[in-house]
Amino acid sequence: MAILVLGGAGYIGSHTVYELIDAGREVVIADNLETGHIEAVHPKAKFYQGDIRDRAFIDSVFDNEPIDGVIHFAANSLVGESMVDPLKYYDNNLCGTKVLLESMVAHNIGKIVFSSTAATYGEPERVPILETDRTKPTNCYGETKLSMEKMFQWTSAAHGLRFVSLRYFNACGAHVSGKIGEAHSPETHLIPLILQVPNGQREKISIFGDDYDTKDGTCIRDYIHVTDLAQAHILAMDYLMAGGENNIFNLGNGVGFTVKEVIDTARKVTGHPIPAETVPRRAGDPAQLIASSDKARSVLGWNPQHADLEEIISTAWNWHKNHPNGFAK
Ligand code: UFG
Repeated sequence: MAILVLGGAGYIGSHTVYELIDAGREVVIADNLETGHIEAVHPKAKFYQGDIRDRAFIDSVFDNEPIDGVIHFAANSLVGESMVDPLKYYDNNLCGTKVLLESMVAHNIGKIVFSSTAATYGEPERVPILETDRTKPTNCYGETKLSMEKMFQWTSAAHGLRFVSLRYFNACGAHVSGKIGEAHSPETHLIPLILQVPNGQREKISIFGDDYDTKDGTCIRDYIHVTDLAQAHILAMDYLMAGGENNIFNLGNGVGFTVKEVIDTARKVTGHPIPAETVPRRAGDPAQLIASSDKARSVLGWNPQHADLEEIISTAWNWHKNHPNGFAK
């Protein structure tokens, strides 16, 4: 039996495939390569290029492969883009998931692990954030992910499919082998943007606001290594295989770092002075996002192995300095 990884050529998807294959699982990938990279596809995984909005395509994968469970990363994930082009997010994230679920129900495939986000909470009422806290997204990306979670709930109630939703905090870092890593275009995330400075691709890093109510005035985030996220997907699939009920888990280290602390750590790791300049706040950024991941630890037995920020940034730097243009040759 095989696991189908939708979006397995993307950043978190490709790292999850590497961990699944290391764990001896059979893996089938489907990816439309809109934001994923063919070079990130693990050589031992079977690869199909296609789009989850295409019912005939997704049906053909289920018809041809012995799929036991699905891990679903196939979505657009840029907060800023979702605000200027919300219908793109409704189309890919929601319409795509609708077609996928129709096909899963028709093929009697009953287990799905889903890539969700801290953006489902919006501005938190308190930190650390619990899974039971209020969900009130402040951007369209988070809204579509929350709607996808609800789509799973109602489909589960009607058709018996079971799901686990994993709400990631700030995914970062790269595979320890240096073979795969983060490669977005355009890049919007803090750590890869910082590392463009020592890589000679950017003169300085912009700090989006230093007047937040935090210890040094800059935003606090919970940075979680992509391989630790990948491990959580395997544990979540095993939980469903063992008969586990529908569930939602936060994934973070439970420790927050300010933007300035992240820049300082990158200076230490790279040995580069990395000039920084404060610019106005970016719209929609909450001051603090820190996860309580106690539930994932106790129910799934999740135990992040790369919690140290210096180690996280070292793995990212190892990737970016050797692949300054991502996967591009
Ligand atoms: N930041 C800067 N300068 C930059 C880029 C980012 O100061 O050049 C700051 C941001 O303002 C934020 C922090 O660095 O305070 C982290 O920003 P990222 O863009 O790396 O990540 P976000 O916290 O905005 O986004 C993450 C996930 C999203 C998710 C969101 C939930 O990447 O998928 O958390 O709010 F939706």
